[in-house]
Amino acid sequence: MKKHKHRQETEAVRGGTDLSRKHAPLATPIYQTSTFEVTDNEQQVRATGTDAYYTRYGNPTNSVAEGAIAELEGTDAALLFASGMGAITSSILALLKSGDHVVAQRDIYGGAIKFLSEWLPKLGVETTFVDTTEYEQHARAIRPNTKLLYLESPTNPTLRVVDLRKAAALAKQHNLISLIDSTFATPINVRPAEYGIDLVMHSGTKYYGGHSDLICGIVAGRKDLVDQIRDTRTTLGGILDPHAAWLLLRGIKTLAVRVQRHNLNALRVAQYLARHPKVKQVHYPFLEDHPQHALALDQMQGGGGVVSFEVDGTGADARRLTESLHLFTLAPSLGGVDSLVCMPALTSHLTVPAEQRAKMGITEQLIRISVGIENAEDLIADLEQALAVVSASPQHAEVGR
Ligand SMILES: Cc1ncc(COP(=O)(O)O)c(C=O)c1O
Repeated sequence: MKKHKHRQETEAVRGGTDLSRKHAPLATPIYQTSTFEVTDNEQQVRATGTDAYYTRYGNPTNSVAEGAIAELEGTDAALLFASGMGAITSSILALLKSGDHVVAQRDIYGGAIKFLSEWLPKLGVETTFVDTTEYEQHARAIRPNTKLLYLESPTNPTLRVVDLRKAAALAKQHNLISLIDSTFATPINVRPAEYGIDLVMHSGTKYYGGHSDLICGIVAGRKDLVDQIRDTRTTLGGILDPHAAWLLLRGIKTLAVRVQRHNLNALRVAQYLARHPKVKQVHYPFLEDHPQHALALDQMQGGGGVVSFEVDGTGADARRLTESLHLFTLAPSLGGVDSLVCMPALTSHLTVPAEQRAKMGITEQLIRISVGIENAEDLIADLEQALAVVSASPQHAEVGR
């Protein structure tokens, strides 16, 4: 764990840049180049593998963004990938070999489930999925060949919260590498490295980018592990393009203030939904009836911008509700300044078998909203009118009887 020089708001805006530069551009230049010139072959050899060699290995614009992320996460180093899935797959392929075993939470992003359960077995790596918050089950699943503990918190889409102290202690005790997908939390709400988690992964597409205009993946962590993953990234070729790295860097500058506003808006919206008679259940870590509410308060600065809820009605009612919203745009993804809505069973978890989806609590009535940074009252008014459409529908009246 590295020490933080500044507070989060300062790290977000100024992180990764050399503050002593004079007469240099304030904004980081985009090194939109595939290759770098050298003066002679000796310098060529020295440049190999640096960020001034060939952009599949690294790029100065990317390095500034990676430095800013490492500062925010409090880790030795960070790496950028062309997508969150690129970060997940490259990291796992870097760390595991045939014959190894993974223990993974049941509640994780659908793409990660597909990779662990369909792709890794082809390479001779098995995964045991365990109940997300049952740590004794995690311990029982560990075998002599287990190498990786794969975590996600809060989980997509049911917002379960992992006890980072327990998970990190378990990994240390059994000599496992711990990797957490911290996309929903962001380093503004929690820094898993501070709890001893080895690798922190993000879909940078979401809060880090923050404007729904780029696709990006991030892995931050211990230098020895990051070096191993960097080498694999170069071989698999999944580095982020420098232009997207620049957009990401611009997003990072407002990460702290955006997330603080997402936290406030999402809590207001979650409290409103929890009181609504047409809503059966709301999932949000900072609501008092959340199963890990005390843990969330202890571990997180805010509950994040994602809320999910079950409509008291049919799957058709839930679909109608999502189609009746005006300010919440019907689209997959999350974490941008614009509010979005989607049905997890039809988007993020469409490829997960129905039986497994049911175990994860992803029903036909479950709706996920990504609460943006608009005015919370306007967002609540939009939900109010859409919920009125649902309660007025004939199907809903039948279910209610
Ligand atoms: C929690 C989580 N992890 C990983 C991913 C994958 O990221 P990407 O779409 O950037 O590949 C997503 C995408 O929705 C996600 O929500």
